Amino acid sequence: MKKPNLVMAPSQPLLELEAVSKHFGGVAAVSGMALNVQPRTVAGLMGPNGAGKTTLINLITGLLLADSGTIRIAGTDIRGLPAHVTAAHGIARTYQNVRLFSGMTVLEQVMAGCYMRRGTSLWASFLGLPKARAQRRETEAHARELLDRVHMGHRADVLAETLSYGEQRRVEIARALATRPKLLLLDEPTAGMNAQESTEIGELTHRLRDGGLTVLMVEHNVRLVKEFCDCVTVMNFGRLLARGTPMECIEHPEVQEAYFGKSGDAERIRAVR
Ligand SMILES: Nc1ncnc2c1ncn2[C@@H]1O[C@H](COP(=O)(O)OP(=O)(O)OP(=O)(O)O)[C@@H](O)[C@H]1O
Ligand SMILES: [Mg+2]
Repeated sequence: MKKPNLVMAPSQPLLELEAVSKHFGGVAAVSGMALNVQPRTVAGLMGPNGAGKTTLINLITGLLLADSGTIRIAGTDIRGLPAHVTAAHGIARTYQNVRLFSGMTVLEQVMAGCYMRRGTSLWASFLGLPKARAQRRETEAHARELLDRVHMGHRADVLAETLSYGEQRRVEIARALATRPKLLLLDEPTAGMNAQESTEIGELTHRLRDGGLTVLMVEHNVRLVKEFCDCVTVMNFGRLLARGTPMECIEHPEVQEAYFGKSGDAERIRAVR
């Protein structure tokens, strides 16, 4: 059993959502949603398919614009700000479907993340100016360090598209970390991974948390949620269904029903067979 986060969080959440809504035409993807994430915690976001989890992450990062509500990071209202500005506020993410740059090595992917943060030095680096060369060396060293943190240092020089799905997910996490975020949003980081790889991701979230980062991860794997999340929020039909400790949420009758249907359904299905 992994150690729980015993550091008492200060009263102000790092991430705070109130009454956030987003419609796509007639579909209420997110509806009056509330969410609090305390600093230096690993928070889980659960909910059945189509519950609105990815949309919520897109709203937090500024990839989508919320119709209404408040989204605050460290007390600052960020609703309506575009993705590059939310990144400057310390938010980084990975995607449900891995989005790496094609034709780039693993190291280059992560260095690109470092340059996203600096914003200016990419062209100077290409031109090989002396200051830029020194910066490039520094950036490369930092990128290699990040790859070591996700246990991908040994794959630094291969093309990212040749990696397994699980390895690509870890590179994407390293690229997100390269922006030196306060809040890391992981959308199903263990999808397509085996049990051992999934556990490694859980362990990584704890190392990141213990180093001062706050993590919000969409995760369906109950074992991982129980073992690695300090708190959980559950969505269904775009709305808040439950929040609390992993066990409180997993055992919540409405959460069970959202995931597995009414308890009587299983018996009826068995009877039909
Ligand atoms: N760009 C879009 N245009 C129209 N409808 C959308 C769009 N994005 C999401 N939706 C709809 O919004 C709802 C929530 O989708 P979302 O992808 O946020 O769910 P999710 O909880 O991440 O699901 P999953 O577990 O399958 O990833 C779904 O009904 C989905 O079809
Ligand atoms: Mg999703």
